[in-house]
Amino acid sequence: MQETTQASTSRKQAHVEACLQYDVEFTENLSGFAGIEFVHRALPEIDISDVNCSVDFLGRRLEMPFLISSMTGGYANATRINAGLAEAATETGIAMGVGSQRQLLTSDTNIQTFRAARTAGSNILLLANIGAPEIVSKENRNSIRKLIDSIEADGLIIHLNPAQEFIQPEGVPQYRGVLQGIEHLCKSLDIPVIAKETGTGICGEDTARLLQAGVSAVDVAGAGGTSWTKVELHRREERGGLDAFQEWGNPTVDCIVEAATLKSEFEFELIGSGGVQSGMDVAKCLALGADIAGAARPLLQAFMDGGTEKLVQLLQLWKQQLIGCMFLTGSEDVQQLRSAALRSPRGRWR
Ligand SMILES: Cc1cc2nc3c(=O)[nH]c(=O)nc-3n(C[C@H](O)[C@H](O)[C@H](O)COP(=O)(O)O)c2cc1C
Repeated sequence: MQETTQASTSRKQAHVEACLQYDVEFTENLSGFAGIEFVHRALPEIDISDVNCSVDFLGRRLEMPFLISSMTGGYANATRINAGLAEAATETGIAMGVGSQRQLLTSDTNIQTFRAARTAGSNILLLANIGAPEIVSKENRNSIRKLIDSIEADGLIIHLNPAQEFIQPEGVPQYRGVLQGIEHLCKSLDIPVIAKETGTGICGEDTARLLQAGVSAVDVAGAGGTSWTKVELHRREERGGLDAFQEWGNPTVDCIVEAATLKSEFEFELIGSGGVQSGMDVAKCLALGADIAGAARPLLQAFMDGGTEKLVQLLQLWKQQLIGCMFLTGSEDVQQLRSAALRSPRGRWR
């Protein structure tokens, strides 16, 4: 079912507003990051100037292993946001995703709001975005190229959001045929396909099914940061008993650990996100097995508070914290950080 551009435009705007206006975070510590600490090394045997946190991701060099997660596009003010996020990505040498481009399947009215990211970030690793329910139909799949070309995307993110569709007042909770749709796109597209949740997490079983379908990367987007069931509950007039789903989801740390075990079986890149709120959380994602980390709402908040300058400051602070974790664990590069010793309140993790 195709919805009108007007309905999609007002929803995209309402999502940004709800995310800035209400408390839509999961309960503190649900992500699991607070339960894990690095084992401090009193003898790191490196200088801080030896630490290098750059990585190769989807064939491109990133100065920091980080992605500005997919957020917006499709309404007037999104032009400014996407341009600002892309400027910050350029300045810090990181990747970025635009928000759902579903509207472009039926209308070009707001194409510029997405295009603004490529204009402002001509050299960044930029990822297109479409929801899983949209790629079930062959007709829609045939139009995906248009979404990719509109921003000269380096990859296509397919977002999985069944919990959001279930709670969303105008949601379409129809997921039959999604996996097959993903498989078709992986075979037909000449750019990498990335599967991503939206803050409810992908468990190990589903990561394995996505990898079998041929995706090049998985972004777990786990529970612990923005709760999209909370966001959609704010948009409902009648909540009924749906409040029970406010904390629904798989914690980010569990998702990363489960996905990382599949690295011995499949070749893929893993993104750790959902509740990442500091450079230390970025370091924990990498130590648990992610190739890069990502975040959405904290970055949007920084941008809305103080524009590109404030967002760049936040990203630089997170980079400094990541480098600090690397130095204090004796890790010269991200590869070494992956085997850094970790502990939880119950003792040594490894
Ligand atoms: C305002 C806003 C809009 C979002 N829109 C999209 C979207 O269009 N497509 C998508 O894949 N994810 C979308 N997300 C989900 C984020 O990419 C991310 O997976 C989720 O918010 C969890 O990350 P966080 O805890 O760092 O916010 C959006 C997030 C925010 C804050």
